[in-house]
Amino acid sequence: MQKQPSQHRLQQLLGPSAKHPIVVPPMANASNAALVLAAARAGCLAFLAAGYASVAQLCTEINDLISLSKSESLSPSDSGCAVGIPLLWGVGFLTWRLDQSDEGDTLLSEVTPITCFKLKSYQSFDRVKIFLQVQTVSEAIKYADLADVIVIQGREAGGHGVGDTGSTFTMLPEVVAAVQKKAIILAAGGIVTGGQAAAAILLGADGVVMGTRFVASNESAFHPIAKRRILAAKEGGNSTIRTRIYNTLRAQDWPQRYDFRILANSATNAFVENPQSLQTSLLAQFNAASNSTEKQDSDFDMIAIACGEGVGLINDISSVEKIVAKVVSDLETFGM
Ligand SMILES: Cc1cc2nc3c(=O)[nH]c(=O)nc-3n(C[C@H](O)[C@H](O)[C@H](O)COP(=O)(O)O)c2cc1C
Repeated sequence: MQKQPSQHRLQQLLGPSAKHPIVVPPMANASNAALVLAAARAGCLAFLAAGYASVAQLCTEINDLISLSKSESLSPSDSGCAVGIPLLWGVGFLTWRLDQSDEGDTLLSEVTPITCFKLKSYQSFDRVKIFLQVQTVSEAIKYADLADVIVIQGREAGGHGVGDTGSTFTMLPEVVAAVQKKAIILAAGGIVTGGQAAAAILLGADGVVMGTRFVASNESAFHPIAKRRILAAKEGGNSTIRTRIYNTLRAQDWPQRYDFRILANSATNAFVENPQSLQTSLLAQFNAASNSTEKQDSDFDMIAIACGEGVGLINDISSVEKIVAKVVSDLETFGM
């Protein structure tokens, strides 16, 4: 079957390195240089996560990535990309943190990533492509003229997002109809398999953002115990939970509208039983678990393991290359 034109729009924007309509989002504590490089080698765009890092820390990581990318000599056999095509990657910022400081601008004047999840002052950086992740249909419409790419994130998504919003597959077609090709549209939230990716493309997405699936890869920076727990989790609609308690436990200043999808654990259960424990016993247990240098399995009863509702569909921890190959072959099976 002929390729869907929608599959080419990300490639049109970013060039031939964006071989597949699959994007690995910025994921705090998971998206390190190894994950980003592996995805780029496999022909996908991936983002380093600025997360809560300082400009200095991020510059170090970006410069490492730049030198690693430059020293790469790709051959057609070991890469989805053709020889001489630069590896593709970006940097993802938390927009509410950018609103609080000039960190993003400082960073962008130090290095020149080609893509990023950034909004403020973006016009001063011509070569930067703007990917903006939003959680409602009206935000997608509002920002479609500003961003090159709109990522519509449903409430199934792992990590921070908005619980009080629609699901990926209800919002996506509404966004596609309303935005009318003004921006490239990617679907995020709960997408783990090639079949789901094909369904999103069928509903009009230009591609998919898959976070949790790539957290469960050899290359991600997640602790092996956390990866094992993700692999063991089934029924993500029940085994994961959206919560705000980690904003308090981690002393993070997230705006009230955002909550956090993670595997339900002892901390979330204890909070439901006794909300008063948050500032006292729970905080003490969380700090002890977080500060332990040799992490034990039990520490992950308190430490958040961010992942989406799609966890039940993950059946292996494997290399990024294998994960991408499987999704791509499934897409091909569906004629995409
Ligand atoms: C472990 C983890 C960390 C995340 N951290 C970030 C982040 O730092 N910045 C961001 O824009 N999105 C972050 N996200 C959300 C992703 O951008 C994306 O919306 C989500 O992974 C898609 O849902 P899925 O995980 O079900 O595939 C994170 C997601 C996960 C799973």
